[in-house]
Amino acid sequence: STFIASGVALKKFPLTKCIKDIYRSPPCANSPISLKGWVSGTRISKNVAFVDMVDGTTYEDVKCVVRPPYLLPNAVKVGTSIKIDNGLWVEGRGKQKYEVQVTENSSIGVIGEVEELFPLLKKQHTEKFLRTIPQYRWRKPEEAAILRFRSNVETALVNFFDQHSFTKTHPPIMTSSDCEGAGELFTVEAASNASLDKCFFGKEAYLTVSTQLHLEVLCAALNRVWTLTPCFRAEESDTNRHLSEFWMLEAEMAFTSRVDQLTDFSELMIKSVISKLFSDFYGMGSNLLKTASKEQGASMLKRWEMLLGQEKWASITYTDAIKILRTAYENDDSVFQYEPKWGDSLKSEHEKWIAGEYFKNPVFVTDYPVEEKAFYMKINEGGNTPAPTVACYDLLVPDIGELIGGSLREEEYGKLCTEIERRKLNLEPLKWYLAQRKNGTFPHGGFGMGFERLLQYLSCKDNIKDVIAFPRTVNNCLC
Ligand code: 4AD
Repeated sequence: STFIASGVALKKFPLTKCIKDIYRSPPCANSPISLKGWVSGTRISKNVAFVDMVDGTTYEDVKCVVRPPYLLPNAVKVGTSIKIDNGLWVEGRGKQKYEVQVTENSSIGVIGEVEELFPLLKKQHTEKFLRTIPQYRWRKPEEAAILRFRSNVETALVNFFDQHSFTKTHPPIMTSSDCEGAGELFTVEAASNASLDKCFFGKEAYLTVSTQLHLEVLCAALNRVWTLTPCFRAEESDTNRHLSEFWMLEAEMAFTSRVDQLTDFSELMIKSVISKLFSDFYGMGSNLLKTASKEQGASMLKRWEMLLGQEKWASITYTDAIKILRTAYENDDSVFQYEPKWGDSLKSEHEKWIAGEYFKNPVFVTDYPVEEKAFYMKINEGGNTPAPTVACYDLLVPDIGELIGGSLREEEYGKLCTEIERRKLNLEPLKWYLAQRKNGTFPHGGFGMGFERLLQYLSCKDNIKDVIAFPRTVNNCLC
């Protein structure tokens, strides 16, 4: 009964053994077993009752065979929480590797009965309907799989950054500056205390749109930093790829002076996550594949293979992207709603077409016009584009469009001030950020990746709302 983890010996492991633990190291055949979980299916016949049990720790269930069937309490339905004591863990028959036998020597009891949940868990429902019952939705095993997947992908990223000597940092969510300068801020207000002047102790404060500015400060101390943080955008884009609250993975690297260092690193990061999808049977890929329909499973596998298959993803400049888009538009102007023009932002339809139709794979688009991007990006010297461009990139992927946005950062104090003035931005809230550029400044760069967009892309889900437990979107803060 001694549990040893990481060299620390505990007399007794404090939690009940869960189904994942059991399948990871199955007990010897014919040994006694106790389980707690929820019923995912029942079949009762004259001589025997079958109960499928899940506990949320894995996509796998445990098949319980109750003989005689009257041992099964009447209240047991799909969704009921139950406990089994002194069941017998035996080798199963056919496809079933193991089963738990519940006999007169065992007990099977109800922990929590089910009232209205039963029909919800049994039937097939659309994701749109499931979003209206956030308190129950995730109890469906096929829905829970995406949340485990989310956790697995995060773990793969934690390991990836750790292996590459990054420090995970925790920048603030409340901030006084608009990092992107796009004015898409939610304001922080005190709800009740009038003496706080309703705002943040008399000062203006916002929910962060990106933690980049704080991350740049930490980069000067820790060299390679990253974070996975909630970000908030007050955009009214009600699309299948926008959330008002989303998690952004941001990384910042000291002494980087070329955009291709950043694009290569981004590619390595995503490919290393995908290689894990194939490697770990109990986590990662299998979590989704085992609960997905045949078609969904096939499209996910195809996508993962395609992402790993190409040795190096394409990289083109914004100027070349516009040329490619214009050629398509000039051949057939019904291909896009908006005419692609140098100097305009790439619309979502352009991004999806370039990645999905033209390259049929992820593609980096670099060197956008200055006016399309934020003040902190390094302006490219020379070049024969119609107007100056910045040393930046977006990673565009099929079906979704932009997955990553990144750049080299301007490290010279004077140049940053000139750009802030030229854009008529408010200098005051950025003074703290600018000051560091007078003290040991250094070339650096980084990027931000929408975590839900990555999950949406890898899971082939149509809607970003279905890869986050409680989506906040335009007009929707349901619970
Ligand atoms: O391109 P964005 O706006 O870049 C930044 O905020 C930089 N400061 C990041 C950095 O360099 N540290 O956003 C980065 C990514 C986008 O590529 C997209 O994947 C995601 O964040 N994103 C959203 N995801 C879901 N819902 C939204 N409303 C999003 N807005 C951006």
